[in-house]
Amino acid sequence: MPKHIGIIMDGNGRWAKERGLPRTYGHVEGAKVFRKISDYCHDIGIEVVTFYAFSTENWRRPPTEVAALMKLFKEYLVEADEIKFDRQKSGLILRFLGDTSAIPKELQKLVGATQLDAISPDTTIINIALNYGGRQEILRSVKQIAEKVEKGELKASNITEDDISAGLYTAGMPDPDLIIRPSGELRLSNFLTWQSAYSELYFADVLWPDFTTDDLDAAIMDYAKRNRRFGGV
Ligand code: FPP
Repeated sequence: MPKHIGIIMDGNGRWAKERGLPRTYGHVEGAKVFRKISDYCHDIGIEVVTFYAFSTENWRRPPTEVAALMKLFKEYLVEADEIKFDRQKSGLILRFLGDTSAIPKELQKLVGATQLDAISPDTTIINIALNYGGRQEILRSVKQIAEKVEKGELKASNITEDDISAGLYTAGMPDPDLIIRPSGELRLSNFLTWQSAYSELYFADVLWPDFTTDDLDAAIMDYAKRNRRFGGV
């Protein structure tokens, strides 16, 4: 079983277009699938699931679409905040990857509140990548390291891969074993750029709003058959 699964929730716009609906309807359906898949991942004992919800490039979308996505995030966070106790009992803990200082203030407050939730052995960490970019994340870590070097706390020749990992939003979490992208696109789009070095990739032809627990099972079964060598033989 993979410990950490990354999921690129792609295809919402096309799903809506196929039905003659505005793109935002696709995101509404996508958010329902996000909830279903999060719960299912906990049921089957996955430790960490990272969902790509909003990239640093997604601000280029029409303002109405950005606003609709922010509304969906807010609804989910309000729900998570109100039923926090039950959620903890149900075993989901939320974490956010990305520069959340650029998102609406009310959303920032809710994000801050969820960050206080404690992780216990039976919890599944649900990472929501929000205003996230893989290259930006690496750059941020490198800048933190450079500051240490400037202050004389670290020698440049002693910088390790672990130092870079420690400065990422995923610090302390295992790297993703499996990254799933539905919708037929075959790229990672700046998602977990450093962490995906040895991830197994799985591309599904289904659009995210149609993605089911059976599709997740199929991805995990496929992953289980792969021979991971990490550069060895
Ligand atoms: C990419 O599909 C999807 C997004 C940019 C948004 C993903 C966000 C959600 C599904 C909402 C998640 C909700 C919560 C509460 C975390 P696209 O719009 O680019 O699809 P297209 O390629 O078909 O146009």
